[in-house]
Amino acid sequence: MNDVRAVRAPLTGEVVHGAGRGRGLGFPTANLAADPGSHVPPPAIYSGWVVRHATGAVHRGTISIGSNPTFCDTTDVHVEVHCHDVSDDFYGERIGLWFVARIRDTVKFASTDDLVRAARLDVLRSEALLASDRGRRVLTGALAADGRTASV
Ligand SMILES: Cc1cc2nc3c(=O)[nH]c(=O)nc-3n(C[C@H](O)[C@H](O)[C@H](O)COP(=O)(O)O)c2cc1C
Repeated sequence: MNDVRAVRAPLTGEVVHGAGRGRGLGFPTANLAADPGSHVPPPAIYSGWVVRHATGAVHRGTISIGSNPTFCDTTDVHVEVHCHDVSDDFYGERIGLWFVARIRDTVKFASTDDLVRAARLDVLRSEALLASDRGRRVLTGALAADGRTASV
């Protein structure tokens, strides 16, 4: 799982407004403004746990880091997470992303339908990775950092 294997700390920041496309695609995402000085993993699609700092709630997520090349011609890197188990918009909240595994490279798709098909598969893959031994270990680390021992 290469570059995120060594990650022992979450990527933290505040949820801000994105382009507003995700909900229409059926994949609403929380867009993260990463804290200054954070190490942002290289562009790719990842599985990971999402911790909401206000409540301590933990959600299952699929994370996209990249320039959204299917829609944008810029090189600006967006950090977004689609939560599998909640549809809140998270705006203004502080969250932490605990990376479990890299799923695939970001792709410039020929159509929105192709992107949505790929994203559906990403979520299935992410679910399996979160449920794996490694996924449970990362979750234990996230809960311990939050002072909890119970599982989600
Ligand atoms: C699971 C998942 C996979 C994604 N994969 C890609 C991708 O391969 N290529 C791409 O251009 N955008 C990808 N995206 C990002 C979408 O383009 C982005 O979430 C969408 O445009 C909504 O952006 P917004 O939140 O700024 O409205 C992915 C997003 C998710 C949630």
